[in-house]
Amino acid sequence: MRRKLVVGNWKMHGSHKANAELLAGITGARPFGCDVAVCVPFPYLSETAVTLASTDLRWGAQDCSAHEQGAYTGEVSVPMLAEFGCRYVIVGHSERRAYHGESDQLVADKAKAALARGVTPIVCVGETLAEREAGQTEAVVKRQLSAVIHTLAHCASEMVVAYEPVWAIGTGKVATPEQAQAVHAVLRAQLRAATPQADQMTLLYGGSVKPDNAATLFAQADIDGGLIGGAALKASDFVAICRAAE
Ligand code: PGA
Repeated sequence: MRRKLVVGNWKMHGSHKANAELLAGITGARPFGCDVAVCVPFPYLSETAVTLASTDLRWGAQDCSAHEQGAYTGEVSVPMLAEFGCRYVIVGHSERRAYHGESDQLVADKAKAALARGVTPIVCVGETLAEREAGQTEAVVKRQLSAVIHTLAHCASEMVVAYEPVWAIGTGKVATPEQAQAVHAVLRAQLRAATPQADQMTLLYGGSVKPDNAATLFAQADIDGGLIGGAALKASDFVAICRAAE
């Protein structure tokens, strides 16, 4: 059986004080019967690493450059993330795709750069409301994942995939467990065609996961945990979601 993973995506939230309280609330609730990670803003990686170093909790970043180093003002490379002990980096979040124009191929290149340095990319895919209503959900997520599968080639099995319907992110409109499972099954089938390890891979659901809907989502056959935004900012909610994954 696949072990569940719950990842908090703090987005552009936090402060020294708020982070310390949040991390204290999470570490104080250990042990967890699932893997737990937080993906924090770059400036807080150092303090997060110090706070979590002696725990089995993991941490990561929310984006990375596809380049190793160079004249890329404002960007952060994977080797830098690796120096701060990042286990994960989120790539291709819909907010990056929408607000920063990230293409499927750029997302794939970022995932490749992460794996090259031993950092696990959490590759986000998902359709907009217009795409869902036009019946394009399957085609969109398959196109997004296909770019990554081709670029990672034999390493594809090492990524984590997160299905995040754009219409469910931060909106309170969660996909029904059946809707989410249907897309996860499509993604798993696509991965099976690409790698013999597809059944061991971790597929997360993200989009308005809350303590009261997490358990039914995580009970679906192909949903192996969650990528949590808003509810990851409140320790009691995040811990409750982790409990739902145990
Ligand atoms: P949400 O965000 O839980 O606030 O909907 C999820 C995400 O964007 O990763």
